[in-house]
Amino acid sequence: MITVKNLTKAYRDKKALNDISVTFPAGKTTAIVGPSGSGKSTLLHSLNLLTRPTAGSMTVDDIAVDFSQEIARSKVLEVRKQFGMVFQEKALFTHLTVLKNLTEGPIKVRKMSKAAAEEKANALLQEFNMTELANRYPYQLSGGQQQRVAILRALAMDPKYLLLDEPTSALDPELEAQVLRVLKKLAESETSMIVVTHNMTFAQKVADQIVFIDDGQLAFQGSTQDFFSSSEKRIEQFLGAMSF
Ligand SMILES: Nc1ncnc2c1ncn2[C@@H]1O[C@H](COP(=O)(O)OP(=O)(O)OP(=O)(O)O)[C@@H](O)[C@H]1O
Ligand SMILES: [Mg+2]
Repeated sequence: MITVKNLTKAYRDKKALNDISVTFPAGKTTAIVGPSGSGKSTLLHSLNLLTRPTAGSMTVDDIAVDFSQEIARSKVLEVRKQFGMVFQEKALFTHLTVLKNLTEGPIKVRKMSKAAAEEKANALLQEFNMTELANRYPYQLSGGQQQRVAILRALAMDPKYLLLDEPTSALDPELEAQVLRVLKKLAESETSMIVVTHNMTFAQKVADQIVFIDDGQLAFQGSTQDFFSSSEKRIEQFLGAMSF
């Protein structure tokens, strides 16, 4: 479980996040939702220390981080090891085949043998029906395929928590559905996932809990069912604005 306490991220002229206390359970999927500019990416990136909060603290399982202190390089690396990250724009190594994209991290960072890394990569490709892509280069893949490979690449590192920042917002609806099916399957197998999404249908279908960030404040944390049936005015207004 990740426990965040009183997290604030202040820029010179504004607070992107103000005094956020929130938990992310292991084995569950949390959707972070909220208007554009509300602080969703800032919260997600704070977890793996891509963004450094200016106050507060967190624990990632048994690793404690105090944001008000300088964080030792060794601790930053230890925290990062717990996370896999998938960005909005696919970010595959363009000069490497799909298989090599999946084995590079495990071999170079996790010091896995080439044979073990390839075995693992092939198992992942098989599980997600993507074996025919193994020897292609990223430019030979559709956007949806690239994004699915990016998810498998994060999984190949065996992270405890998978972080995704709007993983489908650059895709058209059909490709988006392919990627969302992969995430649904991961959620069903109790992968610990935290996903920033604008897709309310996906959040409602797949997430176990919702974290609603509004103007840098935590406006809701609770079950998906409670969120979507809430009669709280701000939540109703947000959900109303997200549908048409
Ligand atoms: N380097 C920065 N300096 C100053 N303000 C910043 C910086 N980075 C982000 N912000 C501000 O912090 C706020 C939160 O940004 P964040 O990217 O977390 O929003 P978001 O909810 O992810 O938005 P979106 O849905 O558009 O991706 C925004 O008002 C943004 O302008
Ligand atoms: Mg964002």
